[in-house]
Amino acid sequence: MSSVKIESVVLDSTRCGESPVWEEKSNSLLYVDIPSKKIFRWNSLTKQVQDFTVDSTVSSVAIRQSGGYVATVGTRFCALNWEDRSSSDLCSVDKDKKNNRFNDGKIDPAGRYFAGTMAEEIAPAVLERHQGALYVLFPSGNVEKYVDHVDISNGLDWSMDHKIFYYIDSLSYSVDAFDYDLHTGKIANRRSVYKMEKEEHIPDGMCIDTEGKLWVACYNGGRVIRLDPETGTRLQTVKLPTEKTTSCCFGGKDYSELYVTSARDGLDPDKLSRQPEAGRIFKITGLGVKGVAPHAFAG
Ligand code: BGC
Ligand code: BGC
Ligand code: CA
Repeated sequence: MSSVKIESVVLDSTRCGESPVWEEKSNSLLYVDIPSKKIFRWNSLTKQVQDFTVDSTVSSVAIRQSGGYVATVGTRFCALNWEDRSSSDLCSVDKDKKNNRFNDGKIDPAGRYFAGTMAEEIAPAVLERHQGALYVLFPSGNVEKYVDHVDISNGLDWSMDHKIFYYIDSLSYSVDAFDYDLHTGKIANRRSVYKMEKEEHIPDGMCIDTEGKLWVACYNGGRVIRLDPETGTRLQTVKLPTEKTTSCCFGGKDYSELYVTSARDGLDPDKLSRQPEAGRIFKITGLGVKGVAPHAFAG
């Protein structure tokens, strides 16, 4: 048995780190800091961090097949050119909801961009309810609303056989599943596969491993949990040294390292002094499981 090890890989902390994505070709981890309007790229070989500032909150980032990246900025889907730090809008959503912003997003196995919105918060997880929605940006440029009346659209991933879409609306305290049609991208038949326990707090970002188990970052819970969506049970808990753990993805050589983002916003000065690593990016090794490569936007 290997032993689980946790280290922070970037010393600069984020206010609300999110959307970790492993980019194999640059041996790098991409992630965002939502309120700072920044996207980061940490090179695991040189340990250098590059950044890209956009004009609004940036809540998710993804690799684009044709080069560069795509991201959700404010209520827009954008294309990014990292070389000259330029961005262009692909389309926008929630035009009737001035107080909304995008939150988590990820590319599906066919290259579509799934991303959801939420109302702006008064304090972490305190907001006007049911204002968000889950959208899908197709490679053609069309955008469709898939789920309406969402509180905080969050973690998402797809089963290994591409037949199930897993989704988290944080304030439901549940991890849900939908039937998923790879060919059309349609989802149907929503059900809960896991109900959060009290000490796990709020379900946030999520990723799947090659055994089909889900890793969920627990906001306020200071942990990632590994769930079996078939039995609705928790298989493992890995505690982190700070409570606002926000999202996770597998990366590194063979996708055997789990990267976890975290936040420092929302911690009072007392908690901050007791959690000096709040807002950092963590790498967990020795888990004995692997993840899958991220998909790339096909548009
Ligand atoms: C959001 C935060 C929110 C947290 C907990 C994150 O994905 O970006 O604003 O406080 O989830 O629900
Ligand atoms: C792309 C593939 C790529 C895969 C990585 C897909 O979205 O179409 O080219 O190999 O993502 O998992
Ligand atoms: Ca999130």
